Amino acid sequence: MNRRAFINWVGVGWLASSLPVAIAACSPVTMQAESTTNKGGFKSVGTVAQLDKDSQLLNKNSPVGAVLVVRTSSGSKLSAVNPSCTHAGCPVGWQVKSQKFVCPCHGSEFGTDGKVLKGPASKPLKTYQAKIEGSSVLVNR
Ligand code: FES
Repeated sequence: MNRRAFINWVGVGWLASSLPVAIAACSPVTMQAESTTNKGGFKSVGTVAQLDKDSQLLNKNSPVGAVLVVRTSSGSKLSAVNPSCTHAGCPVGWQVKSQKFVCPCHGSEFGTDGKVLKGPASKPLKTYQAKIEGSSVLVNR
């Protein structure tokens, strides 16, 4: 292999290996993922201001699906659940005073850990990890 052929071979190899990285770095999908994703799979579902306004943050179309995040009275601890009642699917609401999720359809009640406190529901609400970073509320499915 002469010098010119070697340089051409190295140049084509460099271009072939760099091009996918350059395209991915400029992709709008990558930029969107960075704006809603945090390390460890946490995704933004709303702002702290939204959470503080009503002591709860409901996002039916978040990146992790429908999620209800609440601040418990025990300080800054967050509780995040799928708000669909496990009895028949009605959306549960957060009762600040009693610190539990209550279903308006048939009266099931769930604790901050999603466990059933009162039937007719027999299965717990699906729970998620939640945290605050800066002004964002993040949930990990
Ligand atoms: S749908 Fe929630 S208790 Fe029946």
